[in-house]
Amino acid sequence: APDIPVANVSAHLNQLQSIASGNGGNRASATSGYTASLNYIKGKLDAAGYTTTVQNFTYNGQTHANLIANWPAGPTGPTVMLGSHLDSVSAGPGINDNGSGSAALLEVALTLADRNPTLTKHVRFGWWGAEELGMRGSTHYVQNGGAAGVEAYLNFDMIASPNPGYFVYDDDTALEKIFKDYYATLSVPTEIETEGDGRSDHAPFKNAGVKVGGVFTGASSVKSSAQATKWGGAAGQAFDRCYHSACDTTSNINSTALDRNSDAIANALWKLAVGNTPPPT
Ligand code: PHE
Ligand code: CA
Ligand code: ZN
Ligand code: ZN
Ligand code: ZN
Repeated sequence: APDIPVANVSAHLNQLQSIASGNGGNRASATSGYTASLNYIKGKLDAAGYTTTVQNFTYNGQTHANLIANWPAGPTGPTVMLGSHLDSVSAGPGINDNGSGSAALLEVALTLADRNPTLTKHVRFGWWGAEELGMRGSTHYVQNGGAAGVEAYLNFDMIASPNPGYFVYDDDTALEKIFKDYYATLSVPTEIETEGDGRSDHAPFKNAGVKVGGVFTGASSVKSSAQATKWGGAAGQAFDRCYHSACDTTSNINSTALDRNSDAIANALWKLAVGNTPPPT
């Protein structure tokens, strides 16, 4: 699988930060900062050749939006889907939560388009609205038939926490193994993700019977001394001290975690959807 250039992911995060700063300091769902974030991602995907759809929905009297991007090459049948929520809380710009997952997914999508490998599965990406209001966007998508044909859904929410842990979702053994094996090649130890169980956009997919997986670097839980020994960073401090706060800015990102997790996403996508037949020479 390709090595995702972390500088490109960081450049997307700088754009999301700038969008928040220009729109009252946040990118909350149904606000101008959210619309600008969606348009930024959509513009890049459209230019790369994706078929994009904005799925609007109403929640609490406001109009929210998901962004869905289908890659047009490859088989149309069984689908591998990767998703991240694009909305922040209203308290801050949401750069780790969840600019990190959103930006990494964008760069993986752009890399797929650039490499255009032979695919064994249909590939789809989703950027969810209103996760912070109770996973409203992903729930709406699943309730309207979005899980049909989806063999695996991979979720990325908070993947560059400033005092990171390396947590792998344990919901499906085969998907868990893909991420664990990847981290083993980096000699980075992992733990099973428990802090976020049921609390992000994989939950509606899992409830609909879809196999789900993902990685996570920790939110308000505190890093133990054993975890600091294995991962570095500060024991006795939260994985993300700026969780849901105004200080969740571009300063609240661990670039090593962002790099490793971006590469882990690409590795998983290639493992799940890319054929091993080399292209003709
Ligand atoms: N979804 C939670 C939030 O956005 C945090 C979380 C991240 C939960 C990853 C589960 C997995 O605040
Ligand atoms: Ca990389
Ligand atoms: Zn959040
Ligand atoms: Zn989140
Ligand atoms: Zn779990």
